[in-house]
Amino acid sequence: MGLPSPASCWIALVSVLLVCRAIVCLGVPDPSVRDHLMQEEAFRQVGGGVLLTEPERRLSERLHKLKEQEMAGPQFPPAMHFFKARSLIQQSPIFRLLQMMPKGAALHIHTSSLVGVDWLVKNVTYRPHCYVCFTADQSVRFIFSAKQPIPQPGCSKWTLLEALRRELGNVTGFDRSLMQNLTLFTADPETTYPSQNVVWSKFEQTFSAVLGLLRHAPVFKDYLYQGLTQLYQDNIIYVELRTDLSETYELDGSTHDKSWCLRTYQEVSRKFAAQHPDFLGARVIFTVRRNLSASKVREAVQSAITLHKEFPEVMVGFDLVGHEDTGRPLWYFREALSLPMKLGVTLAYFFHAGETDLEGTEVDGNLLDALLFNTSRIGHGFALPHHPVAKELSRKMGVAIEICPISNQVLKLVSDLRNHPAAVLMSEGHPLVISSDDPAAFGTTGLSYDFYEMFVGIGGMSSNLGTLKELAINSLR
Ligand SMILES: *[C@@H]1O[C@H](CO)[C@@H](O)[C@H](O)[C@H]1NC(C)=O
Ligand SMILES: *[C@@H]1O[C@H](CO)[C@@H](O)[C@H](O)[C@H]1NC(C)=O
Ligand SMILES: *[C@@H]1O[C@H](CO)[C@@H](O)[C@H](O)[C@H]1NC(C)=O
Ligand SMILES: *[C@@H]1O[C@H](CO)[C@@H](O)[C@H](O)[C@H]1NC(C)=O
Ligand SMILES: *[C@@H]1O[C@H](CO)[C@@H](O)[C@H](O)[C@H]1NC(C)=O
Ligand SMILES: [Zn+2]
Repeated sequence: MGLPSPASCWIALVSVLLVCRAIVCLGVPDPSVRDHLMQEEAFRQVGGGVLLTEPERRLSERLHKLKEQEMAGPQFPPAMHFFKARSLIQQSPIFRLLQMMPKGAALHIHTSSLVGVDWLVKNVTYRPHCYVCFTADQSVRFIFSAKQPIPQPGCSKWTLLEALRRELGNVTGFDRSLMQNLTLFTADPETTYPSQNVVWSKFEQTFSAVLGLLRHAPVFKDYLYQGLTQLYQDNIIYVELRTDLSETYELDGSTHDKSWCLRTYQEVSRKFAAQHPDFLGARVIFTVRRNLSASKVREAVQSAITLHKEFPEVMVGFDLVGHEDTGRPLWYFREALSLPMKLGVTLAYFFHAGETDLEGTEVDGNLLDALLFNTSRIGHGFALPHHPVAKELSRKMGVAIEICPISNQVLKLVSDLRNHPAAVLMSEGHPLVISSDDPAAFGTTGLSYDFYEMFVGIGGMSSNLGTLKELAINSLR
């Protein structure tokens, strides 16, 4: 046998290592080579190639110093649950600078969670004809009605809120409990939401509770306007809202269809832009739930095609939403999703994909499938760094990933945001945008909170003003 024995292999290996060590010991690595490699890394990251003007460079240095101070502090917000970190972030000078910064577009927000719960309770539930009922599992439902509404299965008798509040006298605590029904935000998130399934089930409850308010036609118009106002105040000039366009209703119980809904988006967006000339507008991505049957999704795609034809300016595309892990994978809907191609029409896709930590499961195939269906962007892409081929494809196709850091933390994919997988994408200069997903449910408004987590937590000391600039520019691209 000509093969060397394991022992002689071992000896050879050890002697090679000793020789190599000796070389390194004799001379420190060439500092210019080191500088060059470090510059190469810095250049590759998001914003690494952005040239800064002199004042921008000074601002970037100032941000760098502020970040050093924040990291040296006793509590580092990105390492904490956002619900506990929010008040600290509000005091952060970096956060205040981010609020002032033009952030471009918000490309991943769901209409059902667009407006903060303060406004919903303090403004909407105080309007006349608002009724409430209480479910067996400690939740509430709302409806506006000219006369006593018919009871809803699983809910108590409808009570007029105006009368209930009069009976209660001091309503502070009651109003606070209503707000708690409409958001996930709470002081002790770790004990309240021990698992992904628990937090997702409360998440769905909040949507059911909000829906009765939101679907009242006059409220819906004000709600959209209020939502645009909150975004604009955070220096955002364009938004794409994901929505199922569910029917809205009037006081007498009559209803409006999807076309009415799209017309309303268009009207409110135009009105807002007329009053705020630097605002570019709001558009809609039509969504249905991913737990539906194949035939229902087929109908939805058909209706998306029709709506896009009818409202090309406001309706931009289609997506599937809901808990990805418990929903159906994209591949299951392949017939429905290839319908536009078969009919020779265009329908842009904006799929949620890779919002999962179930690596290697069927659901984990969604990223690749989203790209194979020529998705225009990917919602979340949390799992993307685990998929080198999908990652390359996404880069080659210029498909931006919509990173929603706070959403991923609250829905329990990651706890310390310094460990968010987008750090990898960021350091490689992958096309990324930042968004807030469900601001009301997570207790945020605008994009500044998510920008903070991205800039201070995920990007760490490497991200700079160039990073922020590129993220904002990406969103408008
Ligand atoms: C109303 O109740 C809250 C607690 O629920 C309390 O903090 C507040 O002082 C009360 N206000 C009045 C006017 O009694
Ligand atoms: C929802 O509101 C009701 C009525 O005030 C309250 O009893 C219940 O505790 C609230 N539920 C949550 C989850 O906060
Ligand atoms: C509620 O909001 C509407 C506009 O959206 C505003 O006109 C009205 O004054 C608000 N009402 C209260 C009580 O805040
Ligand atoms: C889909 O999920 C939602 C929310 O959990 C649920 O209300 C609905 O009944 C589900 N639909 C189907 C068809 O399973
Ligand atoms: C995606 O785009 C490519 C290139 O334009 C095209 O060849 C392919 O058929 C498209 N696939 C679908 C499912 O639309
Ligand atoms: Zn989403």
